[in-house]
Amino acid sequence: MLVGVAVIAVYAVVVGTLIYFKPPPVRFVYMESAPARAGEVIFRREGCLSCHELFGNGTGYGPALDGAGSRRDRVWLGEYLRSPRPGVGDRPYRLRMPAYDTLEAGELDALVAYLGALRELDADGRIIDPR
Ligand code: HEC
Repeated sequence: MLVGVAVIAVYAVVVGTLIYFKPPPVRFVYMESAPARAGEVIFRREGCLSCHELFGNGTGYGPALDGAGSRRDRVWLGEYLRSPRPGVGDRPYRLRMPAYDTLEAGELDALVAYLGALRELDADGRIIDPR
């Protein structure tokens, strides 16, 4: 009898723990392509992760870039990288987004392709396109 109760209790704890630690659903994806891969090289070279977080890497001096390509369209991203301004993101930041207007046009396009490939998923798992 007591053994039975103990077995059930252990079972409940194990199942409860598994449910508790179930990984959260995937919310952000990277739609890899050749242009996006080229952009990722620039992204790493320029050290964007020294201020931004992406897929759990990097820092929080600026807004997280997960899903950036669902929030912003490519025209917006291209213009913003050339002439950024404070006031985007979800809070004021102590550092400011530097302008990347000295990059070659092809490098900027690649960077925009990379950011555009960082997408968010809706509740049904569909990729959200920028408005
Ligand atoms: C010195 C820190 C710093 C670096 C380096 C930096 N950023 Fe930023 N970034 C910021 C901050 C801070 C903001 C928010 C705007 C502000 O307050 O200036 C921002 C905003 C942005 C946004 C707009 C986010 C949104 O809400 O849509 C994008 C996109 C972005 N950065 C991309 C990049 C990319 C790509 C690089 C590398 C080429 C980069 N950043 C490098 C600090 C930085």
